[in-house]
Amino acid sequence: MKNTTRSWAEPYKMKMVELLKMTTNAQRKKALKDAGYNTFLLKSEDVYIDLLTDSGTAAMSDRQWAGMMMGDEAYAGSRNYYHLEEVVKNVYGYKYLIPTHQGRGAENILSQIMIKKGDIIPGNMYFTTTRLHQELAGGKFEDIIIDEAHDPENEFPFKGNVDLNKLEKIIKKNGAKKIPYVSIATSVNMAGGQPISMQNLKELRKFTNKHHIKIIHDMTRVAENAYFIQQKENGYSNISVKNIVKEICSYTDGATMSAKKDALVNIGGFLTLNDWKLFEEARNLVVVYEGLHTYGGLAGRDMEAMAIGIGESVDDDHIRARVGQVIYLGEKMMAHHIPIVKPIGGHGIFVDAKKFLPHLSQDQYPAQALAAEIYLDSGVRTMERGIVSAGRKSNGENYNPKLELVRFTIPRRVYTQAHMDVIAESACRVFDKRSKITGLKMIYEPKYLRFFQARFEKLK
Ligand code: F0G
Repeated sequence: MKNTTRSWAEPYKMKMVELLKMTTNAQRKKALKDAGYNTFLLKSEDVYIDLLTDSGTAAMSDRQWAGMMMGDEAYAGSRNYYHLEEVVKNVYGYKYLIPTHQGRGAENILSQIMIKKGDIIPGNMYFTTTRLHQELAGGKFEDIIIDEAHDPENEFPFKGNVDLNKLEKIIKKNGAKKIPYVSIATSVNMAGGQPISMQNLKELRKFTNKHHIKIIHDMTRVAENAYFIQQKENGYSNISVKNIVKEICSYTDGATMSAKKDALVNIGGFLTLNDWKLFEEARNLVVVYEGLHTYGGLAGRDMEAMAIGIGESVDDDHIRARVGQVIYLGEKMMAHHIPIVKPIGGHGIFVDAKKFLPHLSQDQYPAQALAAEIYLDSGVRTMERGIVSAGRKSNGENYNPKLELVRFTIPRRVYTQAHMDVIAESACRVFDKRSKITGLKMIYEPKYLRFFQARFEKLK
């Protein structure tokens, strides 16, 4: 195993920096109002430390940038496509590859080829775009994550696990034929970046085999999940993250990937499948939505950067520093008794807004209000992951999720430990004046994925 006596310090150094604009409180107040109290609508130049997302925000390595210069911008059969195909096979073990412009492009194609009207797609907690594509294809998502995942205080190490009893009930009620696949995310985003254990995945594989149901893997953050397995699951402490990643993938039949996260690129994704027939269908559909099957909406150079990024993403030292930085921030917040989702997940700190602002009801959008307040305090941009993100059911009712969270998402290889200190200081300051924070009223609500574009006003 790698040296673990030193701290998680980064296994890289800086070669170039991007200068940031520092703002005043008055500037931020205006920017926030102009953005309708939605951090998605802020201009990035008005942000000091951007923790909106870990998606497409990573710093690429010198090798990836060198790879960009090796882009083969052919319409068909680009060299970079074949390199990416080889890397996906070697690192993840999946057979057939379809590049897409990002994760949701892959979700769209997958949902269209696999889901029929009236189908049910059980999954370990919903993700916004994933569920929407399932619904648009005529399916219905059913949550089969263990109950512990909905409890921010519960310290169970594998809160991404599936409750097989919940799955069994769904099969008994509807029949296995109604279930085109079980949708399994590694490092469950909406639960706080919580991992699924290898043991649970193996049991799920056995169970689904019995019923002839496929497993499709949302592998957006699979390396982070693998790291937690290495750190916490019996029998894995001497196995490399790279090998754990491959084992995880081996229990599933295909995957959608947003390479903008784990794979360290600013744009890109793919759909990968082991079944030739399904692959043929997907390969046919990709030309409708994304582009030819050897580029899928990406430039050759983007595929090259992705191929190189995938290799870097499964390096033990990289992932230890990545998650180490997240844990560093989380521990600082916990030391100040800020209520966060425990255990600390892989890609960010999720603050429990219900506990932080107990005087606000969920229809006053506590997480949205808290994200706005953090920005106002320090220019740190975070994201709501609560009732606004959850959206509405087809009958128009709000989903009212149990988790009402603000996500402090850490981009990969971008910020320093001193930045983490500034973020923690701001969270502490806002926590100390929490009783004065008021709620919000939604004044504009778009039809799909409302959290991206909704606008709010401050309640008095
Ligand atoms: N699946 C998961 C688990 C994700 O976190 C995301 C994106 C997607 C699929 C969709 O991928 O954005 O490339 O189309 N999550 C981003 C986030 C947006 O901020 O968590 P995409």
